[in-house]
Amino acid sequence: MKIILTGIQPSGALHLGNYFGAMQPAIELQSHGQAVYFIADYHALTSVTKADDLRSYTFDVAAGLLACGLDPSRTILFRQSDVPQVHELAWLLSIVTPMGLLERAHSYKDKIAQGAETNHGLFAYPVLMAADILLYNSDLVPVGRDQKQHLEIARDIAQKFNDRFGPVFKLPEPVIREATAIVPGIDGRKMSKSYGNTISLFGNEKEIKKAVMGIKTDSTPIDQPKQIEGSVLGQLMQAVDPEKYENFKVYGSAPGIGYGDLKKDLLAAIQKRFQPFQEKYRHYQTHPGEVEGVLHDGANRARALAAPILEKARRATGLSSS
Ligand code: ADP
Ligand code: TRP
Repeated sequence: MKIILTGIQPSGALHLGNYFGAMQPAIELQSHGQAVYFIADYHALTSVTKADDLRSYTFDVAAGLLACGLDPSRTILFRQSDVPQVHELAWLLSIVTPMGLLERAHSYKDKIAQGAETNHGLFAYPVLMAADILLYNSDLVPVGRDQKQHLEIARDIAQKFNDRFGPVFKLPEPVIREATAIVPGIDGRKMSKSYGNTISLFGNEKEIKKAVMGIKTDSTPIDQPKQIEGSVLGQLMQAVDPEKYENFKVYGSAPGIGYGDLKKDLLAAIQKRFQPFQEKYRHYQTHPGEVEGVLHDGANRARALAAPILEKARRATGLSSS
C-alpha cells in the first residue's frame, strides 16, 4: 500500500482557502493508500512566536481535519513534535545537504526579500521537511505548488544519502495540486491570513457574516447587468456550491439584483456547506480530550512506522553497533 504523506502548518486560524486548497484534497486522498498526515508544529515555530497561539492553531488544524471528514481509524494523524526522532534523521540528512541547495530555496530567499530576520531554522527548513518525508518511506506527497521546490530538495537529499551510504531511502513523488483554483480573499487577492482577507472556517457566525458582507464588488448600479463570472463573489460561490453557482451566474447578473442580496446568498451557501463541519468542530472544542486521543494514537502509529527506517539510516552511517 502506498504511503501518502503531507504536513499542514498550524500557523493561523483556518480559512476557506486552506479548506479548498489543502484540507479537502487531503481528506479525499485518504482512501487511496495509507495516509500519514501531520501537523507541522516544528515548522510553524519559524513564524509563530507565541506558545499559546501555536497550541491553539495546532488544535484548530487537528480538530478541523477531523470535523471535515478525516477518518482517524484509517488515517494516521499526528503532531510532528510527538515524533522528535525526525530531528535525528534531519541531522543525518544535513550532512549530505550542500549549502547551495538551501541557498537556492525560494521560500528562504522570499523571506529574506520580505525583510524577515534570518535564522538557522528558516535556512534548514527544507532539511527538516525532507526528514518528515523520508522518515515514513513516503511514496506520494500532495502539496501546493509553492512547495514543489521543497519536494525536489527532499528528492535530491535522499539521492545524495543513498549515493553515499547505500540504498536507504525511497525517492518520494510529489503530487502537485495544480488544479486547485486559488481561492480569492474578500479583497480579491489570494485568500491568506497574511493579507487579513480571509473568511474563517470555524469563526463565529458574526465574524463570517462580516467578512462575506465585506467582499469587494465593483460599482455597477443595481439596475445594470453585473459580471458575476470571474468576480470574487462568483469564484467563492463556485468553490462553495458549484451547482448553485450555475444559477447564481445567471440570475446574479440580471439587472435589479443588488450585490447585497448576492452576498446573502453566498453566506447562506457557506452556512449550508460548513455548518455540519462547524458543529463537529464545536464538539471537539468541548471535548479536546478526543482530539488529544487521536493525536496520541497517531503518534504511536507514526513512531512504529518510523523506527525501522531510522534504524536503517543509523546503521548505514555507522551509528548503530550492528
Ligand atoms: P496562508 O496563505 O493563509 O498563510 P498557508 O500558506 O498556511 O495559508 O496555507 C496552507 C495551505 O493551504 C497551502 O499549502 C495551500 O495549499 C492552501 N491555501 C492557502 N490559501 C489558499 C488559497 N487562497 N487558495 C487555495 N489554497 C490555499
Ligand atoms: N512546508 C509545508 C507547508 O508550508 C508543510 C510541511 C512540512 C510539509 N513538512 C512537510 C508538507 C512534509 C509535505 C510534506 O505547507
